[in-house]
Amino acid sequence: MKVFEFQNGDKMPMLGLGTWKAAPGQVYDAVREAIKIGYRHFDCAAIYRNEEEIGQAFEDVFAAGEVTREELWITSKLWNNAHGEENVLSALQKTLADLRLSYLDLYLIHWPVALKPEVLFPESGTDFFSLEEKPIANTWKGMENVVKAGLTRHIGVSNFTINKLKQLLNTCDIRPEMNQIEMHPFLQQPEMIKYCQEQHIFLTAYSPLGSGDRPDILKSSDEVSLLENEVIMRIAEAKGCSPAQVLIQWALERGTAVIPKSANPVRLKQNFESTTVQLGPDDMNEIARLDQHARYIKGIFWTMPESPYTVEELWDE
Ligand code: A2P
Repeated sequence: MKVFEFQNGDKMPMLGLGTWKAAPGQVYDAVREAIKIGYRHFDCAAIYRNEEEIGQAFEDVFAAGEVTREELWITSKLWNNAHGEENVLSALQKTLADLRLSYLDLYLIHWPVALKPEVLFPESGTDFFSLEEKPIANTWKGMENVVKAGLTRHIGVSNFTINKLKQLLNTCDIRPEMNQIEMHPFLQQPEMIKYCQEQHIFLTAYSPLGSGDRPDILKSSDEVSLLENEVIMRIAEAKGCSPAQVLIQWALERGTAVIPKSANPVRLKQNFESTTVQLGPDDMNEIARLDQHARYIKGIFWTMPESPYTVEELWDE
């Protein structure tokens, strides 16, 4: 398994299991099965509302002696309503209690969006945003404090643009080591890859399979399924593998980590075995031509009329 090696020598397996949309009642089995298959990297978040069940699975695999804590790489994310410098510690403590861990490997700011503490998701007609009171530089101080407290080994961000990374790099003491963003053949983000290489920031690709199970609110009828794209399907057929395996291996060959979600034992195994697929320069060039700069996760849920955020501001476009 390919790994990212961090400056302190820590190694993160580049293929991990995504747990967004992994339903309670299913995610326990999915995590246990994934560990049996060989997954050692788990991507979690407080807002996925399944960390307690994932924590039960971790506790049980450790007790059964299947793996040790040190053999796993576990990421989680700070939700938008805990962006106050003083709120980060308690948010992380809650995540650690739910996951039944004493430390995380990586803690990310989930979105560059600040909500009031009592709000999980904004609703139209109410004043739920608190961007002005909670600038990212302050949130980041809270993130640095939890590194110093030994509660996470690394910190980073998610859904950040190049401009937002630049602003953060101007004010931080501890540099962000990861940006987790949506990336797949329809949203390839070559400039981000170049910038992060220059800045020694690793990238993780979320929604690598197009998140066909994402909430209906984000679907629109003109979206073509990545898994059914004709180029991806043709390459898969030529290699004797599945379209999902092409998408996962494509992400790895571009030097990004990738976190496909599955709760199905057959697909978990299939996804883990993507690393046996070899894509040549011709395949990579053909897939490069599929870029449409098309986001599935547009962040429209942060952009209602009362919001200080707009889609243009979120993505700096
Ligand atoms: P399931 O959990 O039933 O396997 P993403 O990681 O881009 O968010 O995509 C996750 C979606 O893709 C889920 O609906 C998941 O369904 C499905 N999926 C995961 N692995 C595969 C695969 N190998 N082939 C087809 N669909 C898959």
